[in-house]
Amino acid sequence: MHPHLWYPYTQAKTAPPPLKVKSAQGIWLELEDGRRVMDCISSWWVNLHGHAHPEIAAAIYQQATTLEQVIFAGLTHDPAEQLAEQLLQHLPSGLNRVFYSDNGSTAVEVALKMAYQYWVNQEVKLVEQRGTFIVFSGAYHGDTFGTMAVGARSLFSQVFSDLLFQVEYVPFPATYLGDTTVQSQEDAVLELLKTKLEQLPYAGILIEPLVQGAGGMRMCRTEFLQRLRQIANQFNTLLIFDEVMTGFGRTGDWFACVKSNVQPDIICLSKGITGG
Ligand SMILES: Cc1ncc(COP(=O)(O)O)c(C=O)c1O
Repeated sequence: MHPHLWYPYTQAKTAPPPLKVKSAQGIWLELEDGRRVMDCISSWWVNLHGHAHPEIAAAIYQQATTLEQVIFAGLTHDPAEQLAEQLLQHLPSGLNRVFYSDNGSTAVEVALKMAYQYWVNQEVKLVEQRGTFIVFSGAYHGDTFGTMAVGARSLFSQVFSDLLFQVEYVPFPATYLGDTTVQSQEDAVLELLKTKLEQLPYAGILIEPLVQGAGGMRMCRTEFLQRLRQIANQFNTLLIFDEVMTGFGRTGDWFACVKSNVQPDIICLSKGITGG
């Protein structure tokens, strides 16, 4: 361990020393001791096109010589406008505004704020009752306070429990090929959801569509997402897709929402969008 670094998700007293990476190319990490390691997690789902991709490197170089960071309030620029326009071409047509944030956690954090503020703007008197989100057991949405609150409690978030706002959990109907119980599982989850929504007007329903990533690669069906959409419409609540992990091709289409033919009200993107 380096004496001046804390590594994430790592118990410094007991963890083995981290492998030292000197460079990376495509899927291969080149270690200091000469070994090569295959990066099967694309460095936490980020480097979709492989490491040190020449076109990406050239584009970054080109952009850095033209314009790098510039304040985005009161100013705009072509890269931001072009990226938004190109992104929207791959998303369901009802998703037509982009807000740029920092990373996966803050993408979700912003989505929660947007949803809450939407209700504040819509129906001021009801806002107190719109403070709660429905989320799924086993979910992972990030490590800020808001995203820890809407995720499953884990070893890493447990210590902060007292500081996290309340959410309602429903089971994630995880399934697998040949699963004969999937329909009844989904029915039970949706019935439970309906019962909750009949009792209270919630701020929204947040889900990792098709796959819970960090929660253990747990899959759900497109049919479930379609029925979830119907219920969100029926009870006038917002449906938020956290596609931080599933986005940019990971489920076989550009996005899980495209693959499942479901248009969420808000989609959270990160990781793959950077290409590393
Ligand atoms: C589904 C999902 N949402 C949010 C996040 C948080 O993203 P970040 O690590 O960029 O904050 C992750 C990270 O793995 C994720 O898988």
